[in-house]
Amino acid sequence: MRTPIIVGNWKMNKTLADAAATLSALHDSTTTVSGVEFGICAPFPYLAALAGQGTVSVGGQDMFWADSGAFTGFTSAGMLINIGCKYVIIGHSERRGRFGKLEVPESTIPFFAETDETVNLKLKAALKHGLVPIVCVGETLAEREAGNTDSVIQGQMSGALAGLAADDLTTLVIAYEPVWAIGTGKVCDAEEADRVCGVVRACLPAEIQESTRIQYGGSMNPANAAELLAKPNIDGGLVGGASLKAEDFSQVIRAAVV
Ligand code: PGA
Repeated sequence: MRTPIIVGNWKMNKTLADAAATLSALHDSTTTVSGVEFGICAPFPYLAALAGQGTVSVGGQDMFWADSGAFTGFTSAGMLINIGCKYVIIGHSERRGRFGKLEVPESTIPFFAETDETVNLKLKAALKHGLVPIVCVGETLAEREAGNTDSVIQGQMSGALAGLAADDLTTLVIAYEPVWAIGTGKVCDAEEADRVCGVVRACLPAEIQESTRIQYGGSMNPANAAELLAKPNIDGGLVGGASLKAEDFSQVIRAAVV
C-alpha cells in the first residue's frame, strides 16, 4: 500500500509574508488529515524561514549536484538539508525549458539547460544527502501528437535513473507531468494519465515498481483531483496553481485520503 503524496509547487510566486501565512493556514486546515503525505516546494529565499516555521514540510524546486564550490548562484542538496528541507523537485519541465504555453522566445531555451544527464546527477546528489527527490517527466504537445509519448517518457526515465540501483531508490517519487497540461487548465484525461503513470512504473527496477509513488501533475485542482487520485497508478499530485491558496490545496490533499 503506497501512502499518497501531494506536493505543492509554488514556482516563482508569493512574498515571504504571504508564503508564511499560506503555510500556516495550510497547517490549520489539515490538522485532522491523516494517511496522506504532503508538503510545499517554495522559492529558495523563503525556504529557511518556512522550514523553521515547522508547520508543513518544505522542499526546493531545484538544486545543483556538486556539494560545494565555485558555483555562483547555485544551491546544493546539503544546503537544502541544512535548512530543514525534506523534498526537492528535479527536472521540472520548466527547468528543462519545455513550457505548456511558450511565453519565452525559442532562442532562450538553452538558458534553462536541464537535460536527462543533469537530472541524473542531481538525483544522485539528492539521494546521497537524504532529500526525497521528486523527478519530473512528461511529453510536450508536439511529442504527444506525433505518437511519441511513451518513448519520450521511457527516454527521460532511463536518463534519470542511469547508474542507480533499486536499493538507492527507495525514497524516489516520480511526477508524470504532461507539459501541455501544466498551467493551461487542460488536465490530462484520468484514464490516459493512469496509463502513462503505468508506463513510468514499468521503467522502474522490478524490485521497487510496487512501492514507488508516482504523482500526476498538470492543472490538478479541487474539481478534478479525486478522479485522478482514484486511479491505480496515480499515487499523488504535484500541484502548481492550485497549491497557492491553502483552501484549494487542502481540498486536493483531502481528495487523496483513501
Ligand atoms: P499546474 O502546475 O498545477 O499549475 O498545472 C503543475 C506543475 O508544474 O508542477
